[in-house]
Amino acid sequence: MGKIIAIANQKGGVGKTTTAINLAASFAALEYNALIIDADPQANATSGLGLNPAEYENSIYQCMMDDGEDVRDIIQETDFDYLDIVPSNIDLVGAEVEMINIEKREERMKRALDAVKDAYDFIIIDCSPSLGLITVNALTAADSVLVPVQCEYYALEGLGKLLNTIKIIQSRLNPNLMIEGILMTMYDVRLRLSNQVVSEIRTHFKDMAFESIIPRNIKLSEAPSYSLPVIAYDAESKGAVSYLNLAQEILEKNNISIF
Ligand SMILES: Nc1ncnc2c1ncn2[C@@H]1O[C@H](COP(=O)(O)OP(=O)(O)OP(=O)(O)O)[C@@H](O)[C@H]1O
Ligand SMILES: [Mg+2]
Repeated sequence: MGKIIAIANQKGGVGKTTTAINLAASFAALEYNALIIDADPQANATSGLGLNPAEYENSIYQCMMDDGEDVRDIIQETDFDYLDIVPSNIDLVGAEVEMINIEKREERMKRALDAVKDAYDFIIIDCSPSLGLITVNALTAADSVLVPVQCEYYALEGLGKLLNTIKIIQSRLNPNLMIEGILMTMYDVRLRLSNQVVSEIRTHFKDMAFESIIPRNIKLSEAPSYSLPVIAYDAESKGAVSYLNLAQEILEKNNISIF
């Protein structure tokens, strides 16, 4: 049975999409079947893997509606073995409003993903920078949530609100939702501020923070413009190695054997 991990933080630009693509690609490189759900109308995960969002009529949204699409029919293969994606497109913007009156509207993504849970080892949901209905659906569908935090000014801003939302979802919608971990991203060893954020997070969140830290690495920001996960763009880069380490840390944490 696959594990569903939502990558969420309502703060923008903290590395959610970079993490979704590269964590999923790292699992794929280790020969675990991985599926990315692009749950953001910006469709950055879709375009970052070389798919054109304008070409797809359906997104996860159409799978969440009554008489909607079967998610199995809209999964796209990527150029990489073991890595598939449910693309997004701009239609997802309207979903929040259109779903206001439907029944069990928070549980729609969970229902949609039930059909594919067995076919993958990991399903990674890339959330948008919002705590709106689509993100609530992602957290309700997920087994765990991974929270990227940028090692920058105001890193912890909004984290309290996010953790509170997670608590509400645990109590009302998804009692099994775990926190997979807090992931520090865009770490710059030369910056005192970066180091302060790391020590603050380690003090505050202890075991909740991953050992693996993602450095600021130019290859990570270049890779999407070549439609590649970093491991295919420059496998030896610090960015590629750090996401592979994260994947291994998650496998170990979940007692899944690495080979
Ligand atoms: N570790 C990193 N090193 C260098 N650049 C990075 C790193 N992580 C992310 N970036 C760059 O920072 C920008 C924001 O990253 P990303 O798109 O992953 O954030 P996001 O949280 O998904 O943003 P949004 O909230 O808009 O969805 C992108 O241009 C990305 O290439
Ligand atoms: Mg994003």
